Amino acid sequence: MIKKIFSNVKEYKKFALLSPIFVIIEVAMDIAIPFLMGLIVDRGITNPSKENILNLGTYLFLSVIFALITGILSGYFATKSSAGLAKNLRHSMFKNIQNFAFEDIDSFSTGSLVTRLTTDVQNVQVAFQMSIRLAFRAPLMLIFSFLMSLRIHVKISLIFLLIFPILGIGIGIIISKSFPIFNKIFRTMDKLNTTVSENLLGIRVVKSFVKEEHETQKFKDISLSLFNNYVRVGKLSALADPLMQASIYIVVLLLGWFGANYIVVDHSLSTGELLSLVTYAYQIQVSLMMVSMLIIQMIVARTSGMRIVAVLDKESSLDKNVDGETEIKDGSIEFDDVCFSYSKKEDKLALKNISLKINSGDNVGIIGSTGSSKTTLVSLIPRLYDVLRGSVKVGGKDVREYNLNALRDAVAVVLQKNQLFTGTVIENLRWGNENATYEEVERAAKIAQAHDFITQVPEGYDRIVERGGTNFSGGQRQRLCIARALLKKPQILILDDSTSALDNTTEKLIVENLKEQLPELTRITISQRIKSIEGCDYIIVMDNGEINGIGTHEELLETNEIYREISQSQEKEGDFDEPN
Ligand SMILES: Nc1ncnc2c1ncn2[C@@H]1O[C@H](COP(=O)(O)OP(=O)(O)OP(=O)(O)O)[C@@H](O)[C@H]1O
Ligand SMILES: [Mg+2]
Repeated sequence: MIKKIFSNVKEYKKFALLSPIFVIIEVAMDIAIPFLMGLIVDRGITNPSKENILNLGTYLFLSVIFALITGILSGYFATKSSAGLAKNLRHSMFKNIQNFAFEDIDSFSTGSLVTRLTTDVQNVQVAFQMSIRLAFRAPLMLIFSFLMSLRIHVKISLIFLLIFPILGIGIGIIISKSFPIFNKIFRTMDKLNTTVSENLLGIRVVKSFVKEEHETQKFKDISLSLFNNYVRVGKLSALADPLMQASIYIVVLLLGWFGANYIVVDHSLSTGELLSLVTYAYQIQVSLMMVSMLIIQMIVARTSGMRIVAVLDKESSLDKNVDGETEIKDGSIEFDDVCFSYSKKEDKLALKNISLKINSGDNVGIIGSTGSSKTTLVSLIPRLYDVLRGSVKVGGKDVREYNLNALRDAVAVVLQKNQLFTGTVIENLRWGNENATYEEVERAAKIAQAHDFITQVPEGYDRIVERGGTNFSGGQRQRLCIARALLKKPQILILDDSTSALDNTTEKLIVENLKEQLPELTRITISQRIKSIEGCDYIIVMDNGEINGIGTHEELLETNEIYREISQSQEKEGDFDEPN
């Protein structure tokens, strides 16, 4: 895991190396300062000598300045390299996420991916920054402070050894107790992010169902659980401070007691040396504190690191088959005894033994109650998911034999939940084909009946699309999505409930345009409305993952019960809606 994370330092390696070098110089200065202070007391004050004070004072001053400069530089380099690492990690993760198959995204959940890209990366960043500075600084300072103390007075320095077991055991207990809580915090964080992103995307639904209170309560509960866990960790780490303080006071007390003895009774210690010793004692305490902080941050980062690596290492469940066939002969589609399950389990089949043949250029309708697997059926054509059994063929070849990108270029899907992105109208349309000329864009927009409303405003094709396309009506968004799909110049066009927000006249116009201008195109239209599909060459009636019937509108009215029921119920509704 560590190797995988570190491989992302890349171009920031030199900063990551420079920082510890400056840290070493800084530590040398920090060690020299108490020593010089002791000397000033002994050679300048206890035995008054102005010259000594001036000389040693200059050294002290220079050491302080040097420590300051190297401290700033090492801090700067550490920040730069850790921020660089974070940037590269986010990049690598995002790039890999783009390659994920739909089922991979389902398996992580979007909230969790957001936490991994933000909080987790930040945890690793902080740990990395701390470790390049502290991993050298703390142990070096600890060792040298202790060595210098030994040099001053061996016996009295042994007092320092008292601190280690007290602190070691105390910190060990704190760390082992807080580790499981941190794990809980991460999972709660995932939940929090999922709730927030779901809510912001669905804010209109929340408001229209007057579910604000309900959602706020849900959020509050998660937030409270996060709070409680942080408080628990806080309580534990709050113990660390008094522990440190107590141990250091004990040491200083003992130093004072024995030190005074050595000074007065056997003169083996000077006042200046005692002063240095006390300062070293503080430095040892500070370095121990740094070590424990570092360990805690490392534990947090370890969990985060594993979560990041899980994203980096996740290989797309769909093999993109880059060496696969890139030519798609025609727009014919064949389902041969296809079974499919989202969970890959036999007993939870979303599609059961589907066999179906669609000729190139056919105009097919699909209807069926909600949850009858209409969307699932068409998702297998551009290989958004792979079949469990059987095969799906496009242009006479199994979809798995094609280069995935080539296949998806040939099969354009306007999804049920269509999505526009922040940018201009033309930028959104060119998502379908970034090299499309202005004329091509306009032609596609005209076919999709979008040109008129686009050019109604002065900005025209440069009009800004706001986040999620909220500044366009539902029907306008649908038409933009159809135009975007057409720009791919597909051989197969799948419209999954993508004309639901259009009035009958506009829908008819789009269908006529498609028929006239793109007669070769195989068209599959999923709709809940009979009116939208009655003109199709034939219609597939889906029921509970199975094909219940295939035929023309008239044939199905005669032979298919489900179709007849839908038709009758809609006729009644129609009477209501349109009195003429
Ligand atoms: N990503 C998914 N993961 C797991 N199960 C899913 C997923 N998408 C759909 N399903 C399940 O598969 C079944 C068929 O869903 P599908 O979306 O294909 O229905 P549909 O006919 O398109 O319905 P609608 O008319 O409401 O769009 C449903 O029971 C649904 O719960
Ligand atoms: Mg659907």
